[in-house]
Amino acid sequence: MSRNEKEDAIKKIIKDIADCKPCRELPGVGDIPVFPRGNTDAACMLIGEGPGEQEERQQKPFVGAAGKLLTETLTDMGYDVNRDFYITNVVKYRSYKALPGGRKKNKPPTVKQINSERDFLEREIAVVKPKLIVTLGAKASQWFLGKDFKLTEERGKLYTWHGISILPTFHPAAVIRAMAAGGEERMREFRDDLEKIRAIIKPGMAA
Ligand code: URA
Repeated sequence: MSRNEKEDAIKKIIKDIADCKPCRELPGVGDIPVFPRGNTDAACMLIGEGPGEQEERQQKPFVGAAGKLLTETLTDMGYDVNRDFYITNVVKYRSYKALPGGRKKNKPPTVKQINSERDFLEREIAVVKPKLIVTLGAKASQWFLGKDFKLTEERGKLYTWHGISILPTFHPAAVIRAMAAGGEERMREFRDDLEKIRAIIKPGMAA
């Protein structure tokens, strides 16, 4: 597929995400779709769990605090995030717990929500055809590697899924929480894991 064809195919997926009624009818699921961003021809996909408040507001993945840490880390390594990566989430609608006063707290998506949106991510991967997928956090890693995958023990290594390399690492929000609690170790591990991208994808390299 040419880059233009890929862009058209992703636009069709975006339309289907926006039109998905069952997605937003589940309890504790927002009704604002958050669309993928980045390069549809990238050799590497970055996949998170699901959007938070900032992402819902801007309808783009990884634009809040977690996204800032991810972007800064990859930029330091010489990458241009929107040129070198295609960025998306396992679920495109925010999963939340309602708090008193109308506020919302992010919560991990349920299996039901993940399954109701599975088709979007499968289609995105089939269009982008990345060489490498970096999964950020347990939910995204388990989407590929199974529910028994233990992120803390098994992250930072390359796995294979349908011929595509999978590199599971921490979710940047978990890195931020660990640093706030005084731990620098998780940040080092996160950076070391992301450094493994370089062996497969050089900055500026298209698929
Ligand atoms: N966390 C995610 O998993 N995805 C986002 O887009 C933002 C935060």
